[in-house]
Amino acid sequence: MNPTDTPLPFAELHLHVEGTLEPELVMALAERNAVTLPYDDVDALRRAYSFTDLQSFLDLYYANMAVLRTPEDFADMTRAYLTRAAAGGVRHAELMVDPQAHLVRGVPLEVVLEGVTPVLATSEAEHGVSTLLFAAFLRDRPEDEALEVLDRLVAAGAPIAGIGLDSAEVGHPPSDFTRLYARARAEGLRLIAHAGEEGPASYVTDALDLLGVQRVDHGIRSLDDDAVVERLVAEQVPLTVCPLSNVALRAVDRIEDHPVLAMLDRGLNVTVNSDDPAYFGGYLDDNLAALERSLGMTADQRARLAANSIRSSFLPAARRDALL
Ligand code: HPA
Ligand code: ZN
Repeated sequence: MNPTDTPLPFAELHLHVEGTLEPELVMALAERNAVTLPYDDVDALRRAYSFTDLQSFLDLYYANMAVLRTPEDFADMTRAYLTRAAAGGVRHAELMVDPQAHLVRGVPLEVVLEGVTPVLATSEAEHGVSTLLFAAFLRDRPEDEALEVLDRLVAAGAPIAGIGLDSAEVGHPPSDFTRLYARARAEGLRLIAHAGEEGPASYVTDALDLLGVQRVDHGIRSLDDDAVVERLVAEQVPLTVCPLSNVALRAVDRIEDHPVLAMLDRGLNVTVNSDDPAYFGGYLDDNLAALERSLGMTADQRARLAANSIRSSFLPAARRDALL
């Protein structure tokens, strides 16, 4: 047996639950909810899963959400992800959901939470995958709107472990969201944010210094600035890197050029994640397989990535230690 085939428990730390909506499920939910989509069949929709940058992906990602109408829709999507992730070796998942993306199209918070929450609550028993949920705020919308949604989530007792920041990055710096993160911190919530996916290395520094994030989603553009890299190494800031996503959105030209293993060997605390697996060509295990195939990832590198993922999770110590 190839030693790199040895199953190791992984935590998936960068996953948008709406990004797990496979084309087949999009079409099935469109039919169930009588939503008209501009695609004749699954193959036509699948052909649209081809992107030139982050925005071209976001346009389709938000458009496809039109099929998510009822709690059952959100539950079916979440369950499908957990089933697939478990089969690929994921034992813990920290999922982001985008409340504003549903609110703006008239789907209330309650519908989203009623669908997602019970499936997450039974995930460890049903799939062997423990979970935490993060509310991600859309950085291309106003901070005041995010603050209002955060207040409603807190008032509703929504079972969120923390907050994130996603959507179009360039031109929407961390400095626009200092009040949101201060409020979340005061609520005792965990803090993460996308930074350095398409945006500059300074956004990574600002996410740390102005928002106080405990983990950075993506962070690959940190490599443009040695001082930022040195700081991230010194502080062992977790970076949730998403190789297939970066290639699909052309942040990196080819998987053979992906820096994730070089980042690991430089001492950065990197993890591998799928981001939006339905859109970017695969789940966590597919990302790992691509790194083995195209970058010659060794068993030792794989084991370090697995350990980094468990250690960089927000799991309670008992389960974290059990998975290590
Ligand atoms: N980047 C920014 N926003 C997102 C992403 C991403 O990869 N996926 C879903 N929202
Ligand atoms: Zn992401």
